[in-house]
Amino acid sequence: MAVERTLSIIKPDATRRNLTGRIITKFEEAGLRIVASRRTRLSTAQAELFYGVHRERPFFRSLVDFMTSGPVVVQVLEGENAIAKNREVMGATNPANAAPGTIRKEFAESIEANSVHGSDAPETAANEIRFFFSGLDIVG
Ligand code: CMP
Repeated sequence: MAVERTLSIIKPDATRRNLTGRIITKFEEAGLRIVASRRTRLSTAQAELFYGVHRERPFFRSLVDFMTSGPVVVQVLEGENAIAKNREVMGATNPANAAPGTIRKEFAESIEANSVHGSDAPETAANEIRFFFSGLDIVG
């Protein structure tokens, strides 16, 4: 199995409830290493660009409003099979369908306010990491 990197976002619903540390612990307990991290607040333009693939979806405007409603923590996670592993730790997009012990099962408020984002494939991971971090920010 290859060592991969993936982009994670701890979303405004989670920072609002002071859950950053508990979510990071889930990543680390799964063997993922945090090799870059920044707390920031997305502008509307940044959120629209990041979620551009969803532009035509009915939830797009609400998603952008939610993602700009408070601070987020953007991180690069590294480890064996990191993209799939992170998705496993996050659980299903809709917390109603998420497995026990996953971040979304334990913490998500709704399908929109679902506490975390994670890249879904190697190409999107590379693009999403580049969106937030320069090579110099990532220290493995
Ligand atoms: P995320 O994994 O960041 O990718 C797209 C986001 O859109 C998703 O998590 C949710 O926060 C949000 N979203 C809101 N409604 C839906 C929906 N019906 N289906 C998928 N994603 C949704």
